[in-house]
Amino acid sequence: MRTPTGINRRWVLAKRPEGKVDQSNFRWEEGPIPSPADGQALVRNLWISLHPTALLSIIAPESKGGLPVGEVMQGDIASQVIESRLPGFEPGDLIDSFAGWEDYSLTDGQGWIPARKFSSDIPPNLALGTLGVTGMAAYFGVLEVGRPRSGETFVVSAAAGGVGSVAAQVAKIQGARVVGIAGGKEKCDWLLNEAGLDGAIDHRTEDVGKRLDELCPQGIDIYFDNVGGAILDEALKRLRQKGRVVLCGGTSRYGKSPLPPGPTNYLDLVMVNGRMEGILAKDYLPRFPEAVAAMKDWIRSGRLKSKEDIVVGLENAPAAFARNFTSENIGKQLLKIAEPPLPLRS
Ligand SMILES: NC(=O)c1ccc[n+]([C@@H]2O[C@H](COP(=O)([O-])OP(=O)(O)OC[C@H]3O[C@@H](n4cnc5c(N)ncnc54)[C@H](OP(=O)(O)O)[C@@H]3O)[C@@H](O)[C@H]2O)c1
Repeated sequence: MRTPTGINRRWVLAKRPEGKVDQSNFRWEEGPIPSPADGQALVRNLWISLHPTALLSIIAPESKGGLPVGEVMQGDIASQVIESRLPGFEPGDLIDSFAGWEDYSLTDGQGWIPARKFSSDIPPNLALGTLGVTGMAAYFGVLEVGRPRSGETFVVSAAAGGVGSVAAQVAKIQGARVVGIAGGKEKCDWLLNEAGLDGAIDHRTEDVGKRLDELCPQGIDIYFDNVGGAILDEALKRLRQKGRVVLCGGTSRYGKSPLPPGPTNYLDLVMVNGRMEGILAKDYLPRFPEAVAAMKDWIRSGRLKSKEDIVVGLENAPAAFARNFTSENIGKQLLKIAEPPLPLRS
């Protein structure tokens, strides 16, 4: 197949964010659609996963691996292969890869996480969200790091977000008592009424420590941390014997300069023989298919609700990205760019 003619619209990094990220950090550019060289595929981008971690890659200076200013913004993107000179990838294939905030990207299949094909029975939004890196962080963070046993108390922050909403429900499926911490009534209502959690704490209007005492009177067995900061400290204070803290992310710290001091209550781990351990989804890449199979079944049977917050149109990418930090998103923040134009391959 020939490279299509037309315009490639894209967002490039215009200046590094200082404090908060917004539209002014990005610049809209238009240019020709590129042709793939040997070892590359041209992909048409369909959906972008807009996750808080991407902020770290544009705050960091180039010398520390940050995206160079003037380069197209990078992210985890669901695309369709249009033209391929990359072995193993054919026109029509649907892939999840590291690509640009643009209509068309060239990929060599590498990047922060290697390109993966997904079958056409998985909608691209699901392949990026609950069945993508977001869901993988939750699934393996809960099952491999947190390891909840039936009846244990599991607490999760940013519980109505992409990772948090999946982690909460996976822990619930394991038989844990699950309490979610989230910002705002709408998010807490969703946790209680849709996700079926045992308790919800609105960290905007409620005293988190006091509410944890009420909802977890015996303490916390597992705390799944997406935000760090003061909420992590409150959880550490209440950890039970052999309690586990799953470190998945620290959204409250992203973009802060200077960085606030680390957890004050980390020594509470000593008194309870507790453990704090990180989870990096990409380390589980060889096991993604096992997680996808399990979670597809749970979604089909209604045990796992995949919550998404969808913004439409490439032109809205910076504003949609910023929603992660203004806490507007309920569920996984996604941006839809286009429908697949080619016949789908499975
Ligand atoms: N380790 C891994 O492999 C891996 C993979 C993917 C993501 N992550 C990390 O997992 C975390 C969640 O990612 P996600 O994509 O699912 O994002 P998300 O939780 O859907 O979105 C961000 C949420 O963070 C909360 N938040 C924002 N600013 C905050 C602040 N200052 N203090 C407290 N909460 C704040 C808000 O929720 P509330 O309104 O509820 O506060 C916001 O909606 C991120 O830290 C991300 O970096 C890690």
